[in-house]
Amino acid sequence: MNQPLSNDQSRRDFIAGFGALAGFSLLTLAGCSRSDKVRVGFMLPYTGTYAQLGVAIENGFRLALDQQGGTLGGRDVEYFRVDDESNPAKATDNANKIITRDKVDVVVGTVHSGVAMGMIKVARETDTLLIIPNAGADAATGELCAPNVFRTSFSNWQPTHPLGKVMVENGHRKAVFITWKYAAGEQAVKSFAEGYTAAGGTVVKELFVPFPNVEFQALLTEIAALRPDAVACFFAGGGAVKFVKDYAAAGLKGKIPLYGSGFLTEGVLDAQGDAAEGIITTLHYAESLDNPRNKAFRAAYLAAYDSQADVYAVQGYDTGLLLIQALEKVGGDFTNRNAVIAAMEGAVIDSPRGRWTMSKAHNPIQDFYARRVENGHNKVIGVAWKALEDPALGCKM
Ligand code: BEZ
Repeated sequence: MNQPLSNDQSRRDFIAGFGALAGFSLLTLAGCSRSDKVRVGFMLPYTGTYAQLGVAIENGFRLALDQQGGTLGGRDVEYFRVDDESNPAKATDNANKIITRDKVDVVVGTVHSGVAMGMIKVARETDTLLIIPNAGADAATGELCAPNVFRTSFSNWQPTHPLGKVMVENGHRKAVFITWKYAAGEQAVKSFAEGYTAAGGTVVKELFVPFPNVEFQALLTEIAALRPDAVACFFAGGGAVKFVKDYAAAGLKGKIPLYGSGFLTEGVLDAQGDAAEGIITTLHYAESLDNPRNKAFRAAYLAAYDSQADVYAVQGYDTGLLLIQALEKVGGDFTNRNAVIAAMEGAVIDSPRGRWTMSKAHNPIQDFYARRVENGHNKVIGVAWKALEDPALGCKM
């Protein structure tokens, strides 16, 4: 049987209950946990061939927020990090760690398409907001598109789609494509073949190296024997440095022109040195873009990190800009999920790469530039494709 409560006890309970109720109402009105910090989780590679890319993304993101006082929607920000090592086998465990252990409001990640696939699975299962600041896995904004999954970079279909047209315009009708054997390389060559064939070219051979191997010698010998008009490729980070140097060392530079998606020469030109001179690529950014936004961004990035910004830094920066815009619209209330998503869908990003908007499938609609390496810089030589939108095959949103 319950004991009757004393008057004192009843009064204490009433006050405690009222306090809790009042607190609950205030939190509910203001959006619960408004007084807490926004929890941002970076799941990026900090080791391995893509380590430099992960660091540049985080740097870019932090710069965007620091330029606005370090807050999101008026709330302080707490950062969490997981090194995904560009290892797809650990992707779901790592994503679960940052989502359930660190209880982040938003995950920013990652670079590698295979790792991104695991993250998307977990983000969909847990309904966590995920912003992909690099990985181009087509499915992310194709058949696996979801209201809570956004991308601020590109789909793998995008950068190599305009490349074939550029190569045919330069008179190269027979090409070999060489890349790593994983989703990003396979999707890059598929898109390249579509665009190149449509422009009148023929892919005479597709060559693959397991990721992240950099033993290119046997395949370079095969390329020399095939004698195509040109070679196109997808490599990035440390692998891109090794490939470009090996291509020159094998005596192919100056004999068979080398093309690629622009990752081939992003953030690595110093390490590639003379071997990179003359390479032509297509990408949604170039350090030489002549607009005030790009100049200001590059100067600020150099001052903050004592290193030159690249496309990965821009993608991280734009991820920050996207969240800044969205959280400003909802007054910092992350719990107002539909309004956050609507704000992200309607965002116009005034980026160093040029202005871009979100497609219905949550992927950037953006310009792609043709660039040529001249004196150690990616010089813009034209707009290869204006406002290119990924076809978003299979997206049902
Ligand atoms: C990818 O795996 O999607 C990727 C990695 C590096 C550069 C570009 C794409």
